Amino acid sequence: MEVVIAPGDQLARIAADAIETLLRSQPDSVLGLATGSSPLKVYDELARRHVEDGLGFGRARAFMLDEYVGLAPGHPERYRNVIETEIASRVDFAPDAVQGPDGNAGDLPAACAAYEAAIVGAGGVDLQLLGIGTDGHIAFNEPGSSLASRTRIKTLTQQTREDNARFFDDDIDRVPRHCLTQGLATIMSARHLVLLATGKGKAEAVHQLVEGPVSALWPATIMQMHPHATVLVDDAAASRLQ
Ligand code: F6R
Repeated sequence: MEVVIAPGDQLARIAADAIETLLRSQPDSVLGLATGSSPLKVYDELARRHVEDGLGFGRARAFMLDEYVGLAPGHPERYRNVIETEIASRVDFAPDAVQGPDGNAGDLPAACAAYEAAIVGAGGVDLQLLGIGTDGHIAFNEPGSSLASRTRIKTLTQQTREDNARFFDDDIDRVPRHCLTQGLATIMSARHLVLLATGKGKAEAVHQLVEGPVSALWPATIMQMHPHATVLVDDAAASRLQ
């Protein structure tokens, strides 16, 4: 695991560099996209490079990490819509090149299995962007998640619902209780993991991720077992590292 400590803007450029290098050498790459605050500056930087430097996504494909269950198709916080707004609509992905788990499917377990099959069918994810929850989750693999898990339905913890209430008018009652999420083994199948974490609120999770024992209680620690994991953190998020 490589850990880079740098200011936030620089971290976004480092992550964008990794994606640009991949796309320029392999234009039909498969990207893994995260939602939440952490990747937003990366998406801004990729959109800028698309417009100013001709960075192309036209042959690339992308898979999202997770999705809330039961949010109306037009809901702005539905992750499919967030990804569309933050990155997909700002670059030149082909129609249907970006996929996410279907949180409104009639048969959610079948939707999860279909999503796993779609990722495998695409040849797997080349580079997976990740954020980390204050409780150590990656995607929505909350503490206690199986380290061998695949895409499935999960119940969000109270902590995550509190953390995400800021996206729902600070009203926790509006935050969905369930989600579909890639599992830890799904994420570990990606060929390069790039995790971003900024701010003091992430310091304990980053400490556990980098220095704690591998444990389902801090799900992100599974990344210690990955052959190519990059952790990008600012000073505040790194403040508990020894
Ligand atoms: C989002 C996701 C989550 C977030 C995490 C951090 O797709 O999978 O694991 O990455 O909750 O969220 P932010 O970046 O908003 O602090």
